[in-house]
Amino acid sequence: MTRIAIKSLSQRGILQKLIVSILLMAIIPLVLIIYLLHTEASEVLLKNNVKATMIFMICSICIGYILSRKIIISVVKLARDMQDVTQGNLSKKIKTSENDEVDMLAGYFNQITGELEKNIEDLKESKKVIQDVLLRISSAMGSDKKIDSIMELTLETLNQALNASSGTIMILKEDKLKIMVSYGVISDIRGNISLKEEESIIVKAYKDQKTQNVSRADGAEQLVFEKETGFAYKSILCAPLMYKGGVLGVISMHDKKNGDSFSEDDVVLIENLAGQMAIAIENSRLNQDIERTYVETISTLALAVEAKDPYTRGHAKRVTDFVLRLADEFSLDKDVKDVLRDAALLHDIGKIGVKDEILLKPGSLTPEERRHMQLHPIIGENILRPIHSLNKIAYLVRHHHERVDGGGYPDELTKEYLSLSLKILTVSDAYDAMTSDRPYRKAMTKDEACQELKRCRGTYFDSKVVDVFLKML
Ligand SMILES: [Fe+2]
Ligand SMILES: [Fe+2]
Repeated sequence: MTRIAIKSLSQRGILQKLIVSILLMAIIPLVLIIYLLHTEASEVLLKNNVKATMIFMICSICIGYILSRKIIISVVKLARDMQDVTQGNLSKKIKTSENDEVDMLAGYFNQITGELEKNIEDLKESKKVIQDVLLRISSAMGSDKKIDSIMELTLETLNQALNASSGTIMILKEDKLKIMVSYGVISDIRGNISLKEEESIIVKAYKDQKTQNVSRADGAEQLVFEKETGFAYKSILCAPLMYKGGVLGVISMHDKKNGDSFSEDDVVLIENLAGQMAIAIENSRLNQDIERTYVETISTLALAVEAKDPYTRGHAKRVTDFVLRLADEFSLDKDVKDVLRDAALLHDIGKIGVKDEILLKPGSLTPEERRHMQLHPIIGENILRPIHSLNKIAYLVRHHHERVDGGGYPDELTKEYLSLSLKILTVSDAYDAMTSDRPYRKAMTKDEACQELKRCRGTYFDSKVVDVFLKML
């Protein structure tokens, strides 16, 4: 009977259960006692029924206790489960055997934790994407990569992270936003967008210095369309490349592959990257300016060397002509050829640090003077080394007096350590030096110089380069 009462009560609310419990525990026995005391035969009845009354009271108290305990246990269990969840165990689901407010509370709580769990999973995923993007891009920015490569990598990574179909980075040049890099299939690109183009979302982002996130879902009747570039897309997200209050250009993403609009998370990500990109672009410009100034300065120094030593006037130019012709004979790549050309122009720049009385001495040099003169490749290297882009040239300048048999200076390198570019520079330099007047001797004739090259083939100079050079003359 108790079991049936508890079962039927378990379907009711906590308040009803408590009322029943209190009634059973206190009120009913009290009323019974009062009733018995006020009846005429109370004494007799009390005496006769004291046993039954006590049993009844004990039963009532037991039923009341069981019911109250059930309620308290379910509340305590709920509290413990909730504590578990608040301590991070979001996957835990709260279960109750009751069908009352505690059960409802547990249901609501499960719903809230379910939503929370989903949001946390989404956040984790977003965080992973952002970390991945930032890691890839910051490692690119910290590497030796040129700004074009960094822009390409940034755009590619951002496209993948945002699941976009295409994207561009545009920089302002002469009143037009010019596409520096693009990613994905962008048909019919014409390259530039004029700042006068009123309908352009990209231009709006640039002029307002504000991120634009536009899609058809936002109520746009037409496809977003950039007339001058030929872009046509359903949704676009573009952020200005802001640097110190100014704007350098715009980075834009177009059309999510799944057809969705760009989200708030996407906006945060593109804005963060736009900030980093702007800093990288500006730094690159500053570095380029510094390098340009430095190169101009050392080019002037190279002219100063020739002005200082009239015997070497035109030497750098003639050596440059020889190395470029030899580079063609050996089919060298354009990059290698460019380095070789600059190295030929600057190879004797270290002579700026050689004393005039040694550089211009009409007679032969003493061993001490020769040692001083032989420092010019190292001085030249030290002049060029501080500039990163000139490091390859610095190597050629340092070693342009090495010999294939290891008898050269300053490092006595043998042929296996000498690059083809260096071997080309060495032969060209030596030939021009031999066929030019020097303060201490007259110039050799071409034939004499060629004989000398042949004689030193395989000792001073690389045999193959000498052969090609002689054939080329
Ligand atoms: Fe030299
Ligand atoms: Fe030279």
